[in-house]
Amino acid sequence: MSFKQELEKRVSRINDIISGYLPREEGYYKTVLEAMNYSITAGGKRIRPMLMLETFCLFNGRDYKVLYPFMAAIEMIHTYSLVHDDLPAMDNDDYRRGRKTTHKVYGEAMAILAGDGLLTLAFETAAGAYEKVDGDPETALIVYKRILRAYRILAEKAGVHGMVGGQVIDIEFVGKKITKDRLDRMYLLKTGALIEASMVIGAILAGASDEDIDVVRDIAINVGLAFQIRDDILDVTSSDEVLGKPTHSDEKNDKPTYVSIMDIDRAAKEVEAVTGRAVKAYESLPYKNDFLIDLIMYLINRER
Ligand code: IPE
Ligand code: IPE
Ligand code: MG
Ligand code: MG
Ligand code: MG
Repeated sequence: MSFKQELEKRVSRINDIISGYLPREEGYYKTVLEAMNYSITAGGKRIRPMLMLETFCLFNGRDYKVLYPFMAAIEMIHTYSLVHDDLPAMDNDDYRRGRKTTHKVYGEAMAILAGDGLLTLAFETAAGAYEKVDGDPETALIVYKRILRAYRILAEKAGVHGMVGGQVIDIEFVGKKITKDRLDRMYLLKTGALIEASMVIGAILAGASDEDIDVVRDIAINVGLAFQIRDDILDVTSSDEVLGKPTHSDEKNDKPTYVSIMDIDRAAKEVEAVTGRAVKAYESLPYKNDFLIDLIMYLINRER
């Protein structure tokens, strides 16, 4: 099977997993449930649950029942972050994942609430992992501890010391000059944090050692940084049709980005160099997952 086929197979598996945790569109507040499903089923690349799954496999994780709720949860949090990121008060964008943005279809108030709904449903969903634990009491206790540790990371990396904090810096730097160092720190939070959570949670739930988890964090931080620099490049080089979201959004909003502080070729070299650091960290591990490393390399030149 080619890499592209392997990728498609995983996206479809992940979509099946996520759909099992989505709310039924019924009752008095049906509108917000529709808005939540509208945004999450629009078809993102599912990179975060994929990285979680592949990191879990890297460490020979076996208990998929415990992993699946966390895979769904990370995509819910990511989707909420996009719904809010597109709001008029933030990036004010009209398209996302090839569709009109949630606020364009359901209105701003409902989009804010749909984001809130997705964020909180993520934690309810992840907590459900607790019900899937089986085995003898001693083994179960080990798994409960892993779940609690993963749960805390999910909260921390989604919050003010993670993605939200990064979005705050993003907003405060609109129209301002920024150093590369500061920009990196913004990216490590606004994009890196959820990617870090994805990979670290995959490792924790698989039972990786603390030392190996530190290496995973190092891989993820670099994958996240490279991912956001590539996003900056695509914002100026791609088309709305291919990306499924508006190009030139950063320029419109006067955002400092990698392509505003350096030319595109240099930014592309940065993506390669930063990814190289992730690969080097991966190679220091005594484990292998060929698909994971192919995926990390593929992201360097991704087209959407
Ligand atoms: C977009 O994330 C926001 C960034 C952090 C760059 P993705 O590029 O993963 O978006 P989807 O999930 O595929 O729509
Ligand atoms: C988004 O950064 C990071 C988030 C936490 C949502 P961008 O604003 O560049 O993401 P896109 O380009 O709208 O997907
Ligand atoms: Mg933004
Ligand atoms: Mg945006
Ligand atoms: Mg962008």
